[in-house]
This record gives sequence, C-alpha cells and structure tokens, in this order.
Amino acid sequence: MVSNKKNLKTSSHPAPSFFLTWVKRIGVLSVLVLLCGWLDTIKDRWYIFDPDFLHELQVAAIDASPNDTAGMIKHIVSNLTETYPDNKIHVNTHEEWVFNNAGGAMGAMYIIHASITEYLIIFGTPLGTEGHSGLHTADDYFHILSGEQWAFRPGALEMERYTPGMVHLMPRGVAKQYKMHKGCWAMEYARGWIPLMLPFGFADGFTSTLDVPTLYNTARITGREIISNLLRGKI
Ligand SMILES: *[C@@H]1O[C@H](CO)[C@@H](O)[C@H](O)[C@H]1NC(C)=O
Ligand SMILES: *[C@@H]1O[C@H](CO)[C@@H](O)[C@H](O)[C@H]1NC(C)=O
Repeated sequence: MVSNKKNLKTSSHPAPSFFLTWVKRIGVLSVLVLLCGWLDTIKDRWYIFDPDFLHELQVAAIDASPNDTAGMIKHIVSNLTETYPDNKIHVNTHEEWVFNNAGGAMGAMYIIHASITEYLIIFGTPLGTEGHSGLHTADDYFHILSGEQWAFRPGALEMERYTPGMVHLMPRGVAKQYKMHKGCWAMEYARGWIPLMLPFGFADGFTSTLDVPTLYNTARITGREIISNLLRGKI
C-alpha cells in the first residue's frame, strides 16, 4: 500500500525532476568546458623549458660529443641539473630506460622531466622504427641527436627529412607518419596537456605487447616525476 502511494506521487510529477536533472547536468558540463577553456589559455605560465634554449643545448651536446649519443645525453642532463634549481623543477638524473610502444613504433625512452604541462625525454632505437606520431594535445619538439627521422603528412608526396642538429616541430593537433631510419636518437620536448597524451603512450602496451613490467615501470616513473614536480609547485 505504502509503496503504491509513493509510486503514484513520483509518477504524477515526472517532468519537472527530469527537466531539473538535465539542467543541472548541462550546467555542470558548461562549467567544466569553461574551466578547461580558461586553463588552456593560462597553461603557458607553467612552462619552464624554453624551445630556443633546448635547441642550443641540443647543438652544444652534439658538438661536445660527436658520434657519441651517450655523451650527448650526459651533457644534456648535467646542463639541465645546473640550469634549473632543484627546488623549482625535478630533473631525473637516473637513466631509467623503458621500452615505449606507441602508434605502431617501438623504441626506448628515458624520462628526464615529466609534469602536467611539460615532458622532456630521450627517445630512440638503434634499429630503426616506423609508425603513427599520434594526434596530441601538446606541441612536440623532436631534437635529433643522431641518425635521421623522416616524416610525411597526407597530401605530401615527398618526405620531410630531419638530421642531427635539426628540430622537428609537430604543433598540437598535427599527426604524421614517421620513420626513424636505421638507428636514431632524439631529445623530445612536449608542452601542453601531458596527461591527455598518456592514453596514446599506453594503448599499444595494453592492446598489443602486454609487456606488464614495462607498463608498470612507465606508469611508476611518470607518476613519480609528475608528483615530485607538483610537490615543488611545478604544474
Ligand atoms: C647549458 O647549455 C647552454 C646552451 O648550450 C649554455 O648556454 C649554458 O651555458 C649551459 N649551462 C651550463 C651550466 O653548462
Ligand atoms: C662521425 O661519424 C661519421 C660517419 O661514421 C664520420 O664521417 C665522422 O668523421 C665522425 N665524426 C667524428 C668527429 O668522429
């Protein structure tokens, strides 16, 4: 009897509550969209790395250790630890290499810096690889240290060719097919919304390689670096 009454009550006013629920949902969604739009306009204030400086550092590293990629990496990391005070930004000096499978391409990476709005890694392979660059929410500066990277976008019939000392800039929203012809190593700097790039970085691991230790270590190192930067107030 009681439940019948209840049912009668709610079913007699279905329209207003249904309407209110949707007004609330649309309201919350609008606030979220506005918040994201606003955050996107101010994200620049959290950037620490400067593309011109990184390009100078790339060229200096190549000059200091010609034909020696390991030497270039040491040069880059020791310069960064001296340039950026440890209380402002965390530079990971431990060379923790992990495989990275993404967009069908495979290589290894060493995460030097990762935060919400920037990352700096060494990425490459001595074997060569090829795949889809991914469609990202960040600008990507690919500084070639050794070897060559080739790329093209639909519509181009000739390839773009990047050699040591050159920077391949992929603005956010741009996707390309790329190939690291034979061996190639690069310092990759991305600025924008880094967490939104992570699904692309993990998708091949979950759907193809099922290399659980690599997935675990990548998540562990990335998370650790992002948090240690947040603790320094670096977003
Ligand atoms: C770091 O590298 C830049 C670019 O090569 C150079 O101008 C600067 O002096 C270096 N800083 C240190 C501390 O080595
Ligand atoms: C680097 O390697 C290239 C090709 O093997 C060689 O031609 C060049 O002389 C080397 N440069 C130095 C400084 O060793």
